Formats: sequence, C-alpha cells, structure tokens
Amino acid sequence: MNAANAMNHVRIVEVGPRDGLQNEKQRISTETKLALIRKLAAAGLKDIEATSFVSPKWVPQMADHAEVMAGLPSGAEFPGVNYPVLTPNLKGFEAAVAAGAKEVAVFAAASEAFSRKNINCSIAESIARFEPILAAAQAAGVRVRGYISCVVGCPYEGAIAPQAVAEVAWRLRDLGCHEVSLGDTIGIGNPASVARMLEAVAARVPMAQLAGHYHDTYGLGTANVHASYQMGVRVFDSSVAGLGGCPYARGATGNVATEDIVWLLHGLGATTGVDLDALVDCGAWISAKLGRESGSRVARALLARRG
Ligand code: HMG
Ligand code: MG
Repeated sequence: MNAANAMNHVRIVEVGPRDGLQNEKQRISTETKLALIRKLAAAGLKDIEATSFVSPKWVPQMADHAEVMAGLPSGAEFPGVNYPVLTPNLKGFEAAVAAGAKEVAVFAAASEAFSRKNINCSIAESIARFEPILAAAQAAGVRVRGYISCVVGCPYEGAIAPQAVAEVAWRLRDLGCHEVSLGDTIGIGNPASVARMLEAVAARVPMAQLAGHYHDTYGLGTANVHASYQMGVRVFDSSVAGLGGCPYARGATGNVATEDIVWLLHGLGATTGVDLDALVDCGAWISAKLGRESGSRVARALLARRG
C-alpha cells in the first residue's frame, strides 16, 4: 500500500459481537455468536471484538466468554483477523489470556458517575486497576486498547468537558495502550461537539492513536464519523446492523452501523477492505435471528434495491 492509499485506509473495529450483543435480554447461543463472528470475518473485517471477560453478574450475556474464545475461527481460515476482548480488571485479563486472547481492551470513563455505574470504581481507581493489566500484557506480548466512555455527555452528569476526556486519554496512552477509543456512549454528540472533544484529545494523544466509537441514539453516528475522518481519525468502531446499547446507559441505542460507515467511507474514497454486500447479508442474518429490523438504513436500502 503506498502512502497516499494508507492515508485513505480506515480500520474498522467491528464491535457487534460484544457491544452489539451485551445488552440483549434474550439468550443468544454461543453457536449464534460464533456464526456471527465467522460471517463478519468472511465479509473482510479484520478486527472483531469477540466478547468481554467481565462479571457474569453484571453482564450475563457475555458469560460464555471462554466458549466463544474456544470456538473462534483459526488463523488459517481467516488470516490476519484480530479478536480483541474487554477486560475490566486483572481477573478478567488472566481469564482472557488463558482463553487465548492476543488483544484486550481496558475501559475507563470521562465521567465519575458513569465509571461507578459501569465498573464500580472511580476513574483514578480504574486507572490504578489497569496498571497491572498493562504490565502483565507487556510481559505476555498482548496488545491493550483503551476505551473512554461518555466522551461528549454522560447519562448521569450531562455534558462532559473535552479536557476531562483528554486527561483520561493521556493516562491510558501513558500506561501503554496502543490506541484510545473515544466512546460517545449515549450518542449525544454532533459534529461540532465531537470536533471540540477530538481537538482537545489530539493535543495530548496523536490522532493516529485515536479511534471514534459513536453510538447512533440520535442518528448522528455517521455525521460524527465524517467529522472525525475529516480531522484525521482513521479507526472507527461500529456494529453490524447497528446492534447494541450499554447496560449502564439507559436509552442508549446501538453503535453506528458498520454498513452505514462502510457506505460513507467508500463514498468518500476511503478503503476499508470490507465487502459491503457480504456485510449486508450478515446484518440481515443477525437481525432475523434477533427478530428485528436492521438498524442500518444503508442495509435496508441495499436490500430493497436487490428486490
Ligand atoms: P465488583 O462487583 O466491584 O467486583 O465489579 P469485585 O472485584 O468486588 O468482585 C465481585 C465478584 O465479581 C467476585 O465474585 C469476583 O470474583 C467477580 P464472588 O466472590 O462475588 O463470587 N469478578 C469477576 N468475575 C468474572 N470476571 C471478572 C471479574 N471481576 C470480578 N473480570 C467489575 C467490578 C469491573 C468486575 C464489574 O463492575 C463488571 O464486570 N463491569 C463490567 C460492565 C460492562 O461490561 N459494561 C459494558 C462494557 S463497557 C461499554 O459498553 C462501553 C464501550 O462500548 C465504550 C462506550 O460506548 O462508551 C466500551
Ligand atoms: Mg459502546
């Protein structure tokens, strides 16, 4: 890939099997989760967040994390695909590594109230909890991504100051996270507020190490991806069919749909390596399994066009 192409390449982190399913009330079988992961890999996604090593009391849907890891496709079947998992503490990290994880993600928040609701500790305590994870990960050759929730607004505290996000991003980067994913957990951001937040964060952490993780609650997920892309962000998290929601953010809907951002990014001349037709089929399949319409407008339009 030459330098000009590299500038236009966007890495999509597909979070459907984790963020997309974690809040589902109906029980989803491990077999269905693994079939979803296979279809996503077959559609060309190279980073597929597979599950969470969190407490099953807190998030019952992710309780089969070890079984999901055991059933992941082999490297020979889908070369170059990463399957990161969420790990909130050392216990989760150790279980994830024992299950074969090569990449994990720690998750903090820019809001104290959300931090307490989501992981039962303050922001400072969460950073202290991540320190041994980063040390153990380094020793084991495991990559660690950092997440920040509530980067624009919080369901409990309201608007969040961009500087508060920048401070947590810097701490995660300083701990050794290779990338910091900026989560608009409740989808309250718009291109102006997301740009203000990004500007503040990029002053502390290089843009090349930032990812946009936008939920689509108010329908501005793709607009926020566009604004971030124009500012230089080249990594975005999204969920096939727009699945999802956070169990600790009432009313927050799914992530921006992967089909929608692939359509947008290809339209802007960016490459993603994703086969949109195969992705639309995958989104239709999981939506049918869950008994609901896809949250992706692009997928619905493309399916209607197929007749
Ligand atoms: P706690 O209750 O404070 O934990 O929960 P504890 O250390 O006091 O332990 C209590 C019990 O949990 C003990 O078991 C531990 O062994 C067990 P007991 O003795 O009672 O039988 N435990 C665990 N079990 C399995 N895996 C573990 C683990 N740790 C302790 N890793 C904890 C603290 C962090 C564990 C809990 O709050 C938790 O699991 N939270 C996860 C919440 C979550 O998954 N939220 C959704 C993901 S984040 C998100 O969606 C946002 C994101 O998408 C970005 C965005 O959009 O903003 C990433
Ligand atoms: Mg999320």
